[in-house]
Amino acid sequence: MEIIHVSAECYPVAKVGGLADVVGALPKYQCRLGHFAKVVMPAYQTRFVQENEFDVVYESWVRLGRNDYPFRVLHERSNKLGFDLFLVHISGLLDREGIYGYADDTERFFAFQIAVLDWIVQWEHRPDVLHCHDHHAGLVPFMTAHCFKYRQLSQVPTVLTIHNAQYQGQFGYNKLHYMPPFDSWKAGELDWDGDINPLASAIKCAWRVTTVSPSYLDELGHGARGLESLLRAERGKSHGILNGIDNEVWDPQTDPMLVKKYAHRTVESGKRLNKEALCRVFELNPDHPLFVFVGRLVEEKGADLLPEIFYNAIQQSERKISVLVLGSGNGDTEHRLSELKNLFPGIYNTYIGYNEQLSHQMYAGADFLLMPSRVEPCGLNQMYALRYGTVPVVRRIGGLKDTVIDIGDNGFGICHDQTSAWDVERAIQRARELYDNKKLFKQVRKYMMQLDHSWDRAAQDYIDLYDIK
Ligand code: ADP
Ligand code: GLC
Repeated sequence: MEIIHVSAECYPVAKVGGLADVVGALPKYQCRLGHFAKVVMPAYQTRFVQENEFDVVYESWVRLGRNDYPFRVLHERSNKLGFDLFLVHISGLLDREGIYGYADDTERFFAFQIAVLDWIVQWEHRPDVLHCHDHHAGLVPFMTAHCFKYRQLSQVPTVLTIHNAQYQGQFGYNKLHYMPPFDSWKAGELDWDGDINPLASAIKCAWRVTTVSPSYLDELGHGARGLESLLRAERGKSHGILNGIDNEVWDPQTDPMLVKKYAHRTVESGKRLNKEALCRVFELNPDHPLFVFVGRLVEEKGADLLPEIFYNAIQQSERKISVLVLGSGNGDTEHRLSELKNLFPGIYNTYIGYNEQLSHQMYAGADFLLMPSRVEPCGLNQMYALRYGTVPVVRRIGGLKDTVIDIGDNGFGICHDQTSAWDVERAIQRARELYDNKKLFKQVRKYMMQLDHSWDRAAQDYIDLYDIK
């Protein structure tokens, strides 16, 4: 089967969050199952794009409203990612250092999607599936169904994977003229609540819709930033498929970013060395249980509550915990988290910014990873933590609910019900008790490192989905 993944991110080419990890791994595992999975994404000015070699496989002009932009499709030459990678280069629009956050993001991703289809439609054959990820690829199902120039693609099944329904990419009707000529009777399929809404449009037009965990699919029926009724109406064609993790990138036995590599048999000594190294750099006490947070500092992740939680937890433990935060996002949260350093030197530290290597070192060196998310469509961090023998302390929501079982239920994590400072502080208290119960703590770490969260299962689940007649 030939599967084309259309996405704004893909690890290691360009990454903001978990979307990149998924699109960098799922196609590789699909190829291993004997399929031809390919990724098409924008050519940003990232290190990967600058340092690798590409062949130009297509050149043309992409029309967006009254403007024409030259575009090129580049193919990564070495095929070292385990799948074919194609980059859409549009001068002046996509070739920037950042991935998102520009005033003209609507134009950028609209042009990207048109360019992708302009390229694919002139192939001599048709791909078997167009797999669109999130709203940046959300106009593709409408365009293949209703734009006259893509008529030849109208029979190609489109799949939308919702990684996060909080972001929908809406824009006003004053930009409707960007859409290549289409059957105007179908304009309603672009609309949600008086705007053009790429995510809603994809939910309406895609042949199948998936969410990145089964629980998230259920939760979307009552919390989807206004799309609840639509998701309920389209429930029949929707499936929850739990993400996997790339066991090769995230493997403490081979991870080149760690100070000391380790396996489940050597977890105690291995983690101790990684913890000591981390604590040395951040001036923390390695003899205390080390709690970490890695992620975007946004409300969705419960990050706004972290300053209060850490303040209280440090007092409650009589300063016998160590805390390290890695993240960036909301300015106020960044500021408050940084301020705490002055109150608790030697106990608390923070790194504001994005640092891939440090994230690996934190999963390896920490004892506990906190994820007090308000919304968590899947969450990959908790699975990385499990693989590195770090006990996840998570709110029972979305993918966290589907991947972490509480130690009280013979599981391997610590779960709490709400995103509230009180709930998380109690969970931290339980974590400290677990840390003091050395025998149980050891058993739990060993056990969770052997759990299988690899993509093998989910890659096949997607193939089965594409195969449904
Ligand atoms: P989301 O995609 O919602 O941010 P996920 O748990 O699916 O959440 O994935 C987050 C990914 O981004 C993980 O690979 C995590 O390690 C990484 N990550 C998040 N913030 C940072 C950061 N500041 N530095 C390094 N890696 C980060
Ligand atoms: C989104 C979600 C996250 C999920 C990731 C990959 O960014 O917020 O929960 O793990 O996509 O699917």
